[in-house]
Amino acid sequence: MAGQETISSSMCLRITRRCNAACAFCQAPPTSREELSVAEVGDLSALFGALGVRTVKLSGGEPTMRRDLPDVIRAVAEGGPIPVVVTNGVRLDDETLDACAAAGGEFKFSVHRASRLNDDVLRRRSFDEIVANMARVVDRGIRLSVNTVVTRTSVQVMDDMVDFARRTGAAKISFIPVVERGRARNDSDTYASDTVPRHNGLGPRHPGPPGDQLGMITPQGSRGRRRGGIGAPGPPRRPGPQGE
Ligand SMILES: C[S@@+](CC[C@H](N)C(=O)[O-])C[C@H]1O[C@@H](n2cnc3c(N)ncnc32)[C@H](O)[C@@H]1O
Ligand code: SF4
Repeated sequence: MAGQETISSSMCLRITRRCNAACAFCQAPPTSREELSVAEVGDLSALFGALGVRTVKLSGGEPTMRRDLPDVIRAVAEGGPIPVVVTNGVRLDDETLDACAAAGGEFKFSVHRASRLNDDVLRRRSFDEIVANMARVVDRGIRLSVNTVVTRTSVQVMDDMVDFARRTGAAKISFIPVVERGRARNDSDTYASDTVPRHNGLGPRHPGPPGDQLGMITPQGSRGRRRGGIGAPGPPRRPGPQGE
């Protein structure tokens, strides 16, 4: 309606740029060591809450690299929005699970292959730990969903990913077309394929665009959330950017 301001129902905070994996397509590689403080996350979440934002996604880098992640989760919830931890799922401690359960939060696990081939994407041995951590989330009664990045080389395994998400108890799976940012930016090989060789360890190959900085507040396109398992009916969604 003319003159009416709208705000996204979900916001994303990159709370660190550190990571324990090295995906070739990573849109947010470790370009900075700066991190939002717990107080800053709390202030932003309170502002978002007052504006009607329903969920705050805690992303990165890898949010579980932060030892104070339980405090960050609590800071979001105290501000009003539901905290959603977007993670590669490699590492998940009991304190983080407890904080998420107490806050009524959720986890989004980013998994790109339904087998140990996922280790080739993350470039570390981790698939068994990820599956075990998904089971811990579900066992605690915490809502779990799956993010999977779709590249030219992975499009044919998406049926497997749907089965994987069902098997692991996810309520939803999101398919994210790879975007040309971070490591995937300006690199036609990486953009076209997620199996290019590692360059020099975890460091960035290309700096991200100016807006792609630590603590960037990323408006999300989705409004309304589906409840129930995969395949269960939910409210209509507007198409919008996916990813975090
Ligand atoms: C940058 S990661 C940070 C959170 C966490 N480390 C993870 O991988 O879930 C946030 C989300 O972006 C996805 N992603 C990473 N690089 C991407 C790219 N180039 N295009 C689209 N999505 C991407 C990841 O799979 C993940 O779901
Ligand atoms: S996409 Fe991969 S490399 Fe990038 S932050 Fe997430 S787990 Fe780390």
